[in-house]
Amino acid sequence: MGCALVRAGFGMLGRFFKLFGKQSALVKGTFKLPEGESKLIDLGDVMAGGVQVVLSRVEGKIYALDTRCPHEGGRLVGGPLHDGNVICPLHNYLFDAKTGEVTRGVCSAAKKYRAEEKDGDCEIWI
Ligand code: FES
Repeated sequence: MGCALVRAGFGMLGRFFKLFGKQSALVKGTFKLPEGESKLIDLGDVMAGGVQVVLSRVEGKIYALDTRCPHEGGRLVGGPLHDGNVICPLHNYLFDAKTGEVTRGVCSAAKKYRAEEKDGDCEIWI
Protein backbone atom coordinates (compact mmCIF):
# COMPACT_ATOMS: atom_id res chain seq x y z
CA MET A 1 0.00 0.00 0.00
CA GLY A 2 1.45 3.36 -0.93
CA CYS A 3 0.37 5.88 1.67
CA ALA A 4 2.22 9.16 1.63
CA LEU A 5 2.45 11.68 4.40
CA VAL A 6 1.61 15.10 3.02
CA ARG A 7 1.48 17.38 6.00
CA ALA A 8 2.63 17.15 9.57
CA GLY A 9 3.21 20.52 11.15
CA PHE A 10 6.01 19.81 13.57
CA GLY A 11 7.57 23.27 13.53
CA MET A 12 7.20 25.81 16.33
CA LEU A 13 3.49 26.28 15.60
CA GLY A 14 3.05 22.51 15.48
CA ARG A 15 4.62 22.19 18.94
CA PHE A 16 2.24 24.87 20.23
CA PHE A 17 -0.79 23.03 18.87
CA LYS A 18 0.57 19.74 20.20
CA LEU A 19 0.20 21.15 23.72
CA PHE A 20 -3.53 21.27 23.08
CA GLY A 21 -3.79 18.05 21.10
CA LYS A 22 -4.81 19.80 17.89
CA GLN A 23 -1.93 18.90 15.63
CA SER A 24 -2.94 16.94 12.58
CA ALA A 25 -1.28 15.17 9.71
CA LEU A 26 -2.70 14.17 6.36
CA VAL A 27 -1.79 10.74 5.03
CA LYS A 28 -2.51 10.44 1.30
CA GLY A 29 -3.73 7.30 -0.40
CA THR A 30 -5.19 5.46 2.58
CA PHE A 31 -7.99 4.17 0.36
CA LYS A 32 -5.44 1.56 -0.77
CA LEU A 33 -5.30 -0.02 2.70
CA PRO A 34 -7.34 -3.24 2.37
CA GLU A 35 -9.88 -4.47 4.89
CA GLY A 36 -8.25 -6.39 7.73
CA GLU A 37 -4.79 -4.97 7.09
CA SER A 38 -2.62 -2.46 8.92
CA LYS A 39 0.37 -0.32 8.04
CA LEU A 40 2.97 1.68 9.95
CA ILE A 41 3.14 5.42 9.27
CA ASP A 42 5.68 7.89 10.69
CA LEU A 43 4.15 11.27 11.49
CA GLY A 44 7.17 13.54 11.54
CA ASP A 45 10.61 12.46 12.68
CA VAL A 46 9.99 9.77 15.31
CA MET A 47 13.46 10.49 16.81
CA ALA A 48 12.58 14.19 17.21
CA GLY A 49 9.11 14.29 18.71
CA GLY A 50 7.08 12.73 15.91
CA VAL A 51 5.02 9.62 16.43
CA GLN A 52 4.64 6.33 14.64
CA VAL A 53 1.12 5.01 14.24
CA VAL A 54 -0.33 1.77 12.99
CA LEU A 55 -3.22 2.48 10.64
CA SER A 56 -5.78 -0.30 10.39
CA ARG A 57 -8.90 -0.83 8.35
CA VAL A 58 -11.75 -2.54 10.21
CA GLU A 59 -15.28 -2.78 8.81
CA GLY A 60 -14.34 -0.23 6.19
CA LYS A 61 -13.11 2.42 8.60
CA ILE A 62 -9.58 3.60 9.38
CA TYR A 63 -8.21 3.56 12.95
CA ALA A 64 -4.88 4.79 14.30
CA LEU A 65 -2.96 3.50 17.32
CA ASP A 66 0.40 4.60 18.63
CA THR A 67 2.92 1.83 17.96
CA ARG A 68 4.42 2.15 21.47
CA CYS A 69 3.24 -0.90 23.36
CA PRO A 70 1.92 -0.07 26.85
CA HIS A 71 3.25 -3.37 28.18
CA GLU A 72 7.05 -3.27 28.24
CA GLY A 73 8.18 -0.93 25.51
CA GLY A 74 7.73 -3.10 22.43
CA ARG A 75 6.23 -1.84 19.19
CA LEU A 76 2.95 -2.76 17.57
CA VAL A 77 3.49 -3.91 14.00
CA GLY A 78 1.64 -3.57 10.72
CA GLY A 79 0.43 -6.38 8.51
CA PRO A 80 -2.65 -8.58 8.64
CA LEU A 81 -4.93 -7.98 11.62
CA HIS A 82 -5.70 -10.86 13.97
CA ASP A 83 -9.51 -10.86 14.20
CA GLY A 84 -9.47 -7.06 14.27
CA ASN A 85 -6.46 -6.83 16.58
CA VAL A 86 -2.96 -5.44 16.16
CA ILE A 87 -0.12 -7.48 17.61
CA CYS A 88 2.95 -6.57 19.60
CA PRO A 89 5.39 -9.34 18.72
CA LEU A 90 7.53 -8.92 21.83
CA HIS A 91 5.11 -10.92 24.04
CA ASN A 92 2.33 -11.47 21.47
CA TYR A 93 -0.19 -9.24 23.21
CA LEU A 94 -3.13 -8.18 21.06
CA PHE A 95 -4.80 -4.75 20.96
CA ASP A 96 -8.18 -3.95 19.47
CA ALA A 97 -7.40 -1.91 16.35
CA LYS A 98 -10.53 0.21 16.88
CA THR A 99 -10.16 1.05 20.57
CA GLY A 100 -6.61 0.19 21.60
CA GLU A 101 -7.92 -2.02 24.42
CA VAL A 102 -5.80 -5.06 25.19
CA THR A 103 -7.59 -8.23 24.11
CA ARG A 104 -4.82 -10.71 24.92
CA GLY A 105 -2.43 -9.93 27.74
CA VAL A 106 -2.50 -7.78 30.83
CA CYS A 107 -1.64 -4.10 30.49
CA SER A 108 -3.27 -0.76 29.80
CA ALA A 109 -4.71 0.17 26.40
CA ALA A 110 -2.59 1.32 23.48
CA LYS A 111 -2.93 5.02 22.75
CA LYS A 112 -5.56 5.76 20.14
CA TYR A 113 -5.56 8.76 17.81
CA ARG A 114 -8.52 10.35 16.10
CA ALA A 115 -8.46 9.45 12.42
CA GLU A 116 -10.89 10.53 9.73
CA GLU A 117 -10.75 9.35 6.15
CA LYS A 118 -12.13 11.54 3.41
CA ASP A 119 -11.77 11.26 -0.35
CA GLY A 120 -9.26 8.43 -0.01
CA ASP A 121 -6.90 10.27 2.36
CA CYS A 122 -6.79 10.24 6.14
CA GLU A 123 -6.29 13.04 8.65
CA ILE A 124 -4.86 12.01 12.01
CA TRP A 125 -4.87 14.20 15.12
CA ILE A 126 -1.97 13.64 17.48
S1 FES B 1 6.09 -5.24 25.12
FE1 FES B 1 4.37 -5.43 23.80
S2 FES B 1 3.48 -7.27 24.47
FE2 FES B 1 5.10 -7.01 25.84
